[in-house]
Amino acid sequence: MSGDQHAVTPEAILQLGLGFWGPKTLLSALELDLFSALAAAPLDAETLRQRLGLHQRSARDFFDALVALGMLERRDGRYANTPATARFLDRAQPAYIGGMLEMANARLYPFWGALTEGLRTGQPQNEAKTGGNFFSALYQDPERLRQFARAMTGMSMGNTQVLAQAFPWQDHQTVIDLGCAQGGMPVQLALAHPHLGGGGFDLPPLRPVFEEYVRAFGLDDRLRFYPGDFFADPLPAADVLIMGHILHDWDLPEKRHLIAKAYAALPSGGALIVYDAIIDDDRRRNAFGLLMSLNMLIETPGGFDYTGADCRTWLRDAGFRETRVAPLAGPESMVVGVK
Ligand SMILES: C[S@@+](CC[C@H](N)C(=O)[O-])C[C@H]1O[C@@H](n2cnc3c(N)ncnc32)[C@H](O)[C@@H]1O
Repeated sequence: MSGDQHAVTPEAILQLGLGFWGPKTLLSALELDLFSALAAAPLDAETLRQRLGLHQRSARDFFDALVALGMLERRDGRYANTPATARFLDRAQPAYIGGMLEMANARLYPFWGALTEGLRTGQPQNEAKTGGNFFSALYQDPERLRQFARAMTGMSMGNTQVLAQAFPWQDHQTVIDLGCAQGGMPVQLALAHPHLGGGGFDLPPLRPVFEEYVRAFGLDDRLRFYPGDFFADPLPAADVLIMGHILHDWDLPEKRHLIAKAYAALPSGGALIVYDAIIDDDRRRNAFGLLMSLNMLIETPGGFDYTGADCRTWLRDAGFRETRVAPLAGPESMVVGVK
């Protein structure tokens, strides 16, 4: 055997293959609302076990696994949140990001169990399989809609903070976020740049959620809600239009259609900013972007994620004269097209 063969070990394969153990442990902790239970004070194992209604056999391993995974701390036999879980996973905190993970636990985790079937058939593996529709159920329940919109704000917060600095906002007066959900993006942009006005465009049920959020920042005189369906209705005009986590939901003709509508709504010199977990052009490094594209297979009839080069081609084909790709937070990037 050569030395090289000795250096090849199975550890990375096993770690990846069994990698779902850790994430599912975290998702079950959220389902049990463990992090809120520790908000007031650290608790010993028995008190915490009883508070959560866990079996004696499972509790200690569950809590200590969360310590080993960096999601809890244990001092003198008492369990406590870490600074990050206290801030982001206690339901009472304004920065709570668990909405997205609760959705991952209730929906994506079981649906991803049917990934192989999705790979073979190319068909979504979510509620659509049994005739259901996630969005129509969501939009009929105001509380779930609010939670979804909040989750979007949490997920995009890193991007909003980078984008507020990484674009020449001083050259533009108005910005409208298309598919804005709660309005996290326009709010952060308006806070960072007092000269900017505009708002957010989304389906009509999002209006109260958007308006309440914008009012909470005292921005209702600068940001308004534009209700509409971005396929059926004309898009509102602004100097800058944004599509964040929108294009990956749709198939290629739909993507091109949305880009063409944005182009038509922009003035000369205006810009479209598209952001997603954009895949590297060589399609080998941004694992999150590639897995997000598989998530679109699970969730949508024709959606997929794409490279910066793909998106620049679509923008150029639509008429944009300048295009560029720039990094945002983590695995996310933006593609900017100037008309
Ligand atoms: C994945 S969320 C993205 C939210 C936000 N842009 C972000 O990045 O956090 C997709 C948004 O598109 C909106 N949407 C879906 N279909 C739409 C349509 N036909 N017209 C307008 N908005 C739509 C949804 O209501 C939702 O708020």
